[in-house]
Amino acid sequence: MTERIQAIRGMNDILPDEAHVWEFFEDTVRRWLRAYGYRGIRTPVLERTDLFVRSIGAVTDIVEKEMYTFVDELNGESLALRPEGTASCVRAVIEHNLLYGGPQRLWYWGPMFRHERPQKGRYRQFHQVGVEALGFAGPDVDAEHILMCARLWRELGVEGIVLELNSLGSSEARARYRARLVAYLEQHQDALDADSTRRLRTNPLRVLDSKNSAMQEIIAAAPRLADDLDDAARIHFDAVQSKLRAAGVACRVNPRLVRGLDYYNGTVYEWVTDRLGAQGTVCAGGRYDTLVEQIGGRPAPACGFAMGVERLLALVKLGTVAIAPVAPDVYLVHQGEAADRVAETVAEALRERSVSVVLHCGGGNFTSQMRKADASGARYAVIIGDDEAKAGVLSLKPLRGNAAQTQVRVEEAVALIRDA
Ligand code: HAM
Repeated sequence: MTERIQAIRGMNDILPDEAHVWEFFEDTVRRWLRAYGYRGIRTPVLERTDLFVRSIGAVTDIVEKEMYTFVDELNGESLALRPEGTASCVRAVIEHNLLYGGPQRLWYWGPMFRHERPQKGRYRQFHQVGVEALGFAGPDVDAEHILMCARLWRELGVEGIVLELNSLGSSEARARYRARLVAYLEQHQDALDADSTRRLRTNPLRVLDSKNSAMQEIIAAAPRLADDLDDAARIHFDAVQSKLRAAGVACRVNPRLVRGLDYYNGTVYEWVTDRLGAQGTVCAGGRYDTLVEQIGGRPAPACGFAMGVERLLALVKLGTVAIAPVAPDVYLVHQGEAADRVAETVAEALRERSVSVVLHCGGGNFTSQMRKADASGARYAVIIGDDEAKAGVLSLKPLRGNAAQTQVRVEEAVALIRDA
């Protein structure tokens, strides 16, 4: 036998048995985004590598280790599969001058690619829903984003998600802090693990992100970024928190929260859960007020967030909303020459009236076709034999409950199916 070709490690097939959960999620998300006036933007999955180097940062895990990068042999350009959506969204906004039309509330959704070590909740192709607000400077829009998330968790019926919040301040404040942190870490150099020793030289704030338990004591005693915050950032951060308090959204200020992408400043946050094991961050974001300028646009403040769809779906499955697979209204069985001739017309007539129909294909006797009708989960079987075909009627058989089979015309069948 020819050897089977399998999917790439860390890249999942989403099978039909899961489709209804994805569709519930997608429908809920679309309704939710419309409720806040966000408009969709779709960008290519391939971008110039430079875009991500300049935005996410050259010395970040994503750019250094996780990007799918290759040279386009036709023109020698270095390209990358997008590891996230913010950079592409900002590039498109600049390229098409969208900010000339005023501030923009945008969203996108789709696959992202990171060459990480696959495990439960961590994949090499995963999906994000991302939300970006460009051209807004105030704390009101930071709060809007967080409140949006809180509403979405309710609408999805997911529980046990906690909001962690921090402020990274301005780039000047971070530079001051960076110097203090480096001095501190240098004093404890002997106790740093290999990763942190490397980060100390390249991106010292990321040392705070270390998950190594042996590092936690040093991290806990490290200087705090909060002590270097400039007044503007402090006032902004206080305003975000008081808006959350007023709206009844609980949060935990985590002074060690630094995020793994370099474009952030000011408010940053992560929504985390302990119900999914090691990969517990389901959504994350914050302000990136200098990114538009960094990518070549006129300076414009901005903020946003993105959620990991696979992780949220895992929570949805543990949650309070029971999501049933969507079954057709009707399975149409037919046997006999005359019946076979009208079956398709009847199926189309029902669909025309918004009744969903699976038309039996592949022949077989009534008994085997009825078995398929039962297995389809349909509420009704519509049965057409040659007698029905000649009389211009159909037999309608409820597949649940004890109601009797009736012979009716298409219009009557539609009324019965709708009323049921
Ligand atoms: P991020 O924290 O890198 O931020 O990713 C956002 C979310 O995507 C994570 O919280 C997680 O739920 C999900 N995620 C990330 N990597 C994986 C993976 N390998 N497998 C499964 N899920 C994953 C960003 O991407 C920013 N662009 C967010 C943002 C938007 N900030 C401002 N606007």
